[in-house]
Amino acid sequence: MWKIGDTEIHGQVVLGPMAGITTAAYREFMRPFGIALAYTEMISDCGLIYGNEETFSYLKKGKGDRPLALQLFGGSKETLLQAIEILEQSGAEYDFLDINLGCPVPKVTRAGSGSAWLKRLDELEEMMRAVTEKSSRPVTAKIRLGWDDSSINFHETIKVLEKSNVKMVALHLRTRSALYSGDVDYHVAENLQLQMKIPLVISGDIFTYEKAKEALDITKATAVMVARGALGNPGLIRQINQIIEDKKVDSPVSLKTQIEYMRVFSRLLIEEKGELVAVRQLRGLLPKFLNGYPGMKPYKAMIVNSIVCFKDIEAILEQISKSS
Ligand SMILES: Cc1cc2nc3c(=O)[nH]c(=O)nc-3n(C[C@H](O)[C@H](O)[C@H](O)COP(=O)(O)O)c2cc1C
Repeated sequence: MWKIGDTEIHGQVVLGPMAGITTAAYREFMRPFGIALAYTEMISDCGLIYGNEETFSYLKKGKGDRPLALQLFGGSKETLLQAIEILEQSGAEYDFLDINLGCPVPKVTRAGSGSAWLKRLDELEEMMRAVTEKSSRPVTAKIRLGWDDSSINFHETIKVLEKSNVKMVALHLRTRSALYSGDVDYHVAENLQLQMKIPLVISGDIFTYEKAKEALDITKATAVMVARGALGNPGLIRQINQIIEDKKVDSPVSLKTQIEYMRVFSRLLIEEKGELVAVRQLRGLLPKFLNGYPGMKPYKAMIVNSIVCFKDIEAILEQISKSS
């Protein structure tokens, strides 16, 4: 057990925020595998201020979907404070307010949001102090190593965040310019947790339970964040929990079980988004559940190219079951 502010967190596997993926349905689907903490997708401060309907849809919460960090992004103190005011009055249910200081997408950084904050630590301190004062929930932050290789400043950024009363930091061990590529080196943050006053969650390339163990051992982080690694492989979360608890680690799940997971997740996403929107997302997500199982190439292609409703998904899953 560890704490963010006064709130107890049980478990050391955190589900990383992913725009377009970590919807209420995805979180609800993933929770039973042993998620200690999950995040919403990133939510635009201006989207909230302008009353954008889609932005507000990101505030939905799934069944059993706690503890939950609501992730906000924005480029100025003023708009972030305005957005927090709206959130506080919206009745949205969340446990922590997370500020995105790591998003590398040019559309976001050009507006001074996401990882662009890593280049303005004075302004960042002023903004975060105001945010932690305004928010009724404990504030957390998600950062990267720095803007680029020549400006790695996560030690300084963490100090600024600690001074600003932030209660937990998640660190993605890449720079803004590395985007999502290149192998992560956990030694960059060796023993980092021991130098910090608040919990550290370590993120980057947690694709296997061995990697999770390595990341925790080297950085001494309080928890590990899983993002891409669990896409189509929810069993990874259970495996990481098992290795952390010194238990026997499960073998990869059978294809039959994966098919059942695909069915459960499809139903949840359709319930949340409606068939049309959900199926569009499922075309990208469902094939990942078939990775690593032999002979699945044609079925993956069928999912990507031909599903338009739940019945089509059912029909393909049926075919896979019969063929295996
Ligand atoms: C498609 C996608 C969307 C993401 N969206 C967000 C986001 O909205 N907010 C955020 O803080 N990080 C976001 N991330 C970063 C992840 O949370 C994570 O830190 C990163 O992918 C590194 O972890 P991994 O190598 O285990 O995937 C996103 C990553 C991906 C791949």
